[in-house]
Amino acid sequence: RPSVDPSPPSPMPPIPSPIPVLLVGQIYQDTILYMDDYPKEDSKIRAKDMEQRRGGNICNTAEVLCQFPRMDPHVMSCLGTKEASSPLVSGLEEIGIKTQACVYRPTPLPSSYIIQSSQSGTRTIISCNKTIELNLEEFIHHFDATPPYAWVHFEGRNIDNTVQQIDWLSSKAQQEGWSLKISVELEKPDRPDIDLLLAKGDVVFFSKLFAQTRNYHHPKDFLRSIQPQCKVGATLFCTWGEGGATCLLPSGEIHHASAIPVHQVIDSVGAGDTFIAGIIFCLTRQLHVLTALKFACEMASRKVEKVGFNGLA
Ligand code: FRU
Repeated sequence: RPSVDPSPPSPMPPIPSPIPVLLVGQIYQDTILYMDDYPKEDSKIRAKDMEQRRGGNICNTAEVLCQFPRMDPHVMSCLGTKEASSPLVSGLEEIGIKTQACVYRPTPLPSSYIIQSSQSGTRTIISCNKTIELNLEEFIHHFDATPPYAWVHFEGRNIDNTVQQIDWLSSKAQQEGWSLKISVELEKPDRPDIDLLLAKGDVVFFSKLFAQTRNYHHPKDFLRSIQPQCKVGATLFCTWGEGGATCLLPSGEIHHASAIPVHQVIDSVGAGDTFIAGIIFCLTRQLHVLTALKFACEMASRKVEKVGFNGLA
């Protein structure tokens, strides 16, 4: 008879159902102006419609995640004062997005003014953020690991603090034996020191703009060239708008999924954030990466055909 392994089973707690996911970044107040065309400078024109809603990459991702079965999204963001933030907080809590990890500040919530053009399908975002960014002490103080998160996603912003937060989290996860995935989004190429985040994610999400700014015109060339700077074993994704999205696995295997043809772009704000939600949803369920890629592309395509994030699941 083969000898029985006397060591106790892995100390890792099983991932509970629902699956807790923490999203760290900045919530915004978005004002979206729906226009026929992008306006000329110094013109005076009317928008067809206007919408105000909560936004910010992690908030948009959480809005999509909370519609999927067994997903338990938590957000960690700086907000305004407790009083000013109470409608936002109760709106999020009502749809199942947990906010207890958020930090209150005396400054107002950052805002974005967005021009959505129906001719070109572009969304031009002008943001203003005067918030003092979340530091390591606050991250540790607000990080509640009960039940343990299956996945922690970081927006690629506030770089120095985010690097420290991920380093702290990675060593904590190792000490505690958590089977935790850390993902990082590198969307805006002009953020100083953003490359410091390359090596920090088990999963890294790149935008088309990020790749193009580095003079790559094909996502697979970009992913292959950036892979040596990423964590060993990391899975890399690059979204490419109507060109779909590509994934590079640690083995060097490349997968691509096409976007679904979109009849008309209605609201493209948060399409990339929707893609991230689709990937997190599939990978926390241990689905194959190609399944995840196709699913996330489909979600992102369906999102741009509708206003907001409701009804995607
Ligand atoms: C879209 C978005 C908006 C927000 C802006 C912040 O991805 O998250 O909701 O205003 O980007 O950069």
